Amino acid sequence: MKIFVFETVDKLYDDLASLYINAVRNNPKITLGLATGSTVIPLYERLINDYKSNQTSYKTVKTFNLDEYIGLNYEHQQSYAYFMDNYLFKHIDINRNNINLLNGKCRDINEECLNYDKLLENNPIDIQLLGIGTNGHIAFNEPGTSFDSKTLVVKLTEETLKSNSRFFNNIEEVPKTAITMGLKSIMDCKKVILVATGVKKAQAIKDVISGEISVDIPASILKTHEDVIIYLDKAAASLL
Ligand code: GLP
Repeated sequence: MKIFVFETVDKLYDDLASLYINAVRNNPKITLGLATGSTVIPLYERLINDYKSNQTSYKTVKTFNLDEYIGLNYEHQQSYAYFMDNYLFKHIDINRNNINLLNGKCRDINEECLNYDKLLENNPIDIQLLGIGTNGHIAFNEPGTSFDSKTLVVKLTEETLKSNSRFFNNIEEVPKTAITMGLKSIMDCKKVILVATGVKKAQAIKDVISGEISVDIPASILKTHEDVIIYLDKAAASLL
């Protein structure tokens, strides 16, 4: 596990964006695992700027997203499908057929999970981007989720509901369940990049890096992956 700590968030995102731009330029058919959340927005902004000024093309890039709230459709402004469109997809030349998202409004949720697993098996992810929850969750794999999990339905914890309520009018509006790529699905990705900024993430980062590998801190399993890079600003690294 490599850990990079940056003096400023701008430097962090500039470096991270270069990694992505080079990866896409070197392999135009790359499969990217994408994430949502405020942490990844500055990265997507830089990719859009680069697309506009340097024409880095995403036409043949494939993407998979990590997770989705159950019950929100693509038009709901807090759905992750809407987030991806708004913060990235509609601004670049990606082929819509190459975008893979979990459907929070699907008729058969078990079938949706199995189909996503099959798609992931047939299209291994080259680089998976991750943020982290304050309780150490990655994607929506809450504490207690099995390290063997593939795409699954999860009940969101109080901490996650509270933390994500900042994007909704109130906590009651936050869906209580979500569908997410599992921890095994994430561990199967060839390369994993976890980004954390701000002091609110410092404890989770300390637990991941200095603590034991435990289902109580889902991201701790990343320590057993052979190609993980953790991007931190000074605040997120402040307890290390
Ligand atoms: C949600 C997402 C995670 C994300 C986390 C942190 O729970 N499911 O994938 O990492 O939020 O979000 P933020 O980057 O806004 O702190």
